[in-house]
Amino acid sequence: MNTKKKINGCSSSSSSSSSSNYDYSFKVLLIGDSGVGKSSLLHSFISNCHHHFPQHLSPTIGVDFKIKLLTASGKRLKLTIWDTVLYYSAAGQERFGPLTTSYYRGAHGIILVYDVTRRETFTNLSKTWTKELELYCTNPDCIRLLVGNKVDRDSERAVTMEEGMDFAREHKCLFFECSAKTQANVKQCFKELTMKILEVPSLLEKGSAPVKNQILKQKEVSRQQRDNNCCS
Ligand code: GTP
Ligand code: MG
Repeated sequence: MNTKKKINGCSSSSSSSSSSNYDYSFKVLLIGDSGVGKSSLLHSFISNCHHHFPQHLSPTIGVDFKIKLLTASGKRLKLTIWDTVLYYSAAGQERFGPLTTSYYRGAHGIILVYDVTRRETFTNLSKTWTKELELYCTNPDCIRLLVGNKVDRDSERAVTMEEGMDFAREHKCLFFECSAKTQANVKQCFKELTMKILEVPSLLEKGSAPVKNQILKQKEVSRQQRDNNCCS
């Protein structure tokens, strides 16, 4: 099913299948501790409707991604947004799978999420997540966005907005506080990230649909040449 909506002057549509009808294709990753609301943010962005906020999403295990088609700055964009891939060890501990390097490969944007009501999810960003990013994210131009989620539970807040801003400044991230539940700032997060990716020529080059098509055509030509040689 395809839906088309107008968001803040940025028209978008979501689709469960991929489409080649775009100018640029960007890979965006969501990372952060379990339970911070990564899947909920993704759901909130894709579904565009907080009346259907899922209260009890199961922890994400295995490969999960969603595709969003949108138009920004006059360009047709395809965002493939990957949710964290987790698996559980025999002891029931949450761990990252061996997919880690390939998960980060080719990412144009990375969203680091913490829960503003759970301080350890914020401190774990410096302890674990940024270290992992440095190790596996090979693209220095990749845009980073820090998201403090669950601001609808402001009375339970354990991390101040200033602390979030300081972290973002230190790690060169964009920064938003938002709520997947009320959808506050959710669209703005993704929109800002997309706009920043569009400003970086090296990322555009990597995400360009014509470049990808050209590579595919070249592969096709060399395959045909090989087949011709083989029969001559
Ligand atoms: P893993 O898949 O285990 O890594 O977790 P996750 O980061 O994908 O978290 P998920 O989206 O499954 O959300 C965890 C819990 O937090 C769920 O019960 C959600 O309903 C709840 N939740 C997510 N976002 C919000 C929010 O903005 N506000 C409130 N109040 N609850 C939220
Ligand atoms: Mg999840």
